[in-house]
Amino acid sequence: MHDFCYKGKELYCEEVAVRDVAGKVLTPFYLYSRKTLVDHYTKLAKAFKSVKPLICFSMKANSNLAVVRALVKAGAGLDIVSLGELFRALEAGADAKKIVYAGVGKTRKEIHDAIKTGILLFNVESAGELVVINEIAGKLKKHVQVSLRVNPDVEAKTHSYVTTGKKESKFGIELDTAEAIFLDKARYPHIDLCGIHVHIGSQITLGEPFVQAFRKVLIFLAHLEKQGAKIKFLNLGGGLGIIYSDEKPQTADEFASRILPLLQGKKFQVIFEPGRFICGNAGIFVTQVLYTKKNQAKSFVVVDGAMNDLIRPSLYGAYHEVLSVTKNENLKRIQADVVGPVCETGDFLAKDRNIPDFGSGDLIALMSAGAYGFTMSSNYNSRPRVAEVMVSGNKFEIVRKRETLPDLVRGETIPSFLK
Ligand code: LLP
Repeated sequence: MHDFCYKGKELYCEEVAVRDVAGKVLTPFYLYSRKTLVDHYTKLAKAFKSVKPLICFSMKANSNLAVVRALVKAGAGLDIVSLGELFRALEAGADAKKIVYAGVGKTRKEIHDAIKTGILLFNVESAGELVVINEIAGKLKKHVQVSLRVNPDVEAKTHSYVTTGKKESKFGIELDTAEAIFLDKARYPHIDLCGIHVHIGSQITLGEPFVQAFRKVLIFLAHLEKQGAKIKFLNLGGGLGIIYSDEKPQTADEFASRILPLLQGKKFQVIFEPGRFICGNAGIFVTQVLYTKKNQAKSFVVVDGAMNDLIRPSLYGAYHEVLSVTKNENLKRIQADVVGPVCETGDFLAKDRNIPDFGSGDLIALMSAGAYGFTMSSNYNSRPRVAEVMVSGNKFEIVRKRETLPDLVRGETIPSFLK
């Protein structure tokens, strides 16, 4: 599944001991395995080989240049949601023709710059956005490809914060409205309305919600085609779940065996937008124990990483397995919370876990932290963002330097009336 495992007592990433990276980089840091990243991309590409999908890695999950570069080199396209991600994509050497642009709130500047860059298509979420894209495309004398993101009203059976395909969510367009837009496409002469996009949520471990949603979309597509719509792209989104603890998500092959039959005889260019499936288990977060403390109710392991570095536990109650970077079987096991230095009770990385009775200086790995880890980190409590490191075989390199204190105030000034 991934390339983080023990050799003797030491946790390794591929052929590099995590302890050696900590010695060089100091803590906390994110550590990525290039091999796991590429393997996961390849698994999906192979499983769907018969339909030659364009797999657009969802950069919001991890947009580090090295991560994006590794995937682009393996053949991936990219799913972006901002000019920042477009900038990173191009810096990483991506081919603009393999970039799809999603999001409910694209600004005029974002639309303008993305058209100029020559991206493959926009995933559009409202009629208002179509009007703006049409106008800007006209001014630039361009004809722009667009997929409509539909909302199939399907329950993805995942955390409510990352459920996106129910009609109560802000995402996508109801099928009836989408149909009306397609029939009215003459209103948008600078747009080629040529695709359908659907993404029903994230960390979906069951196959059924995908099948339900895709079935609905395919019926809808057939209906549109009967009315003369010319559909080139079928973007099936991302959302594949991974193992954090005891989940039993579908493998790429199981997913393909459910989905490929639905696509039989269809001539669309199929697009996928996986994020977590590719990078979730390709990264860990490494932190060091500062202190341990105990009160009448609980034991706490206070570490140097915090919610600003890895917010998933605080925000979603997400589970990340806690492992010792160096195993010490002599330590008894205790029930404790792993908490950071941030001044909030919500600042925990793990809650009520049965873990070794760690001591000051011990290194801890929070597993499966490669997706939505660094990308959701912040400078809360004026904590510099941590370093990111990539391993390839027996080599490792810092792929993002730890922020410095001056980085924290970059762009800030004291106004003249306070001098
Ligand atoms: N496509 C669209 C339109 C999306 O909104 C997303 C994720 C993806 C693709 C990629 O989804 P994935 O394959 O990674 O599930 N911060 C949350 C997850 C938010 C997902 C947002 N959209 C977390 O840490 O669990």
